[in-house]
Amino acid sequence: MGLAATSTGAFGSGLACGPDGRPLRPGGPELTETLLDLARFAPGGLVVDVGCGQGGGVAALARRGFAAIGVDRDPAALARARGRVAEGIFFLADAGALPFSAGTIDGVLSECSLSTLPDRRRALGEWARVLTPGGRLALSDVYSRESPRGEGGTPSPVRTRAEVLAELAAAGFVVERFEDRSDVLQAWVARFVFEYGSLDALSGGACGLDVDALGRASPGYFVAIAERRIALSETRP
Ligand SMILES: C[S@@+](CC[C@H](N)C(=O)[O-])C[C@H]1O[C@@H](n2cnc3c(N)ncnc32)[C@H](O)[C@@H]1O
Repeated sequence: MGLAATSTGAFGSGLACGPDGRPLRPGGPELTETLLDLARFAPGGLVVDVGCGQGGGVAALARRGFAAIGVDRDPAALARARGRVAEGIFFLADAGALPFSAGTIDGVLSECSLSTLPDRRRALGEWARVLTPGGRLALSDVYSRESPRGEGGTPSPVRTRAEVLAELAAAGFVVERFEDRSDVLQAWVARFVFEYGSLDALSGGACGLDVDALGRASPGYFVAIAERRIALSETRP
């Protein structure tokens, strides 16, 4: 995949949806539905879409009967989300500092947002903090299909499968499923080019990546489901 670098920041600056409101991240609304099928969030529970963009994920959650919350740091995207999804509750906040008390959220949804964050470790720790014991995380994002770089290899900001699994475990998640969905990338590239004429609207901010590094990293796309580990202290009365 040849990705060109520019400075417009497709994912990080409000271009996350096309003019028709469909999310421009890989997989579109169809992958959201797949992810929600797999997530098995507690019925009727409180579920937060972190990096909700223009609210497509929040709308999908609300349609399934969840108390749907969206969090994003982009005021313009949130304004559109509020206009589109009347059932949603939206917060302007950072993914790494959520405005919720510990152990109050039943599910976290993150679609192509983790890789846009400067501090993934902090964000994952924060998501674990707000989740109830046994609360669930549904994630889709870019990753590198290469094996981890050996000594002397160029460090890449794109995580491999092993690195994603390790960072989830370190944050206190038990990973239930990790599935390659790189099949969605081809259609996404075609749609992106159709909307914007080229891939130039992707930038260093796109999925938090240096696009040259992304091009070198054998990019893939995954979905993952994980559960917030229950600490021993939480099993006692
Ligand atoms: C690729 S878009 C995905 C949007 C949406 N999840 C979707 O699937 O259409 C990434 C989103 O993450 C948001 N984001 C990036 N950094 C963030 C941060 N530090 N805190 C909260 N949201 C952030 C961006 O504003 C953007 O809306």
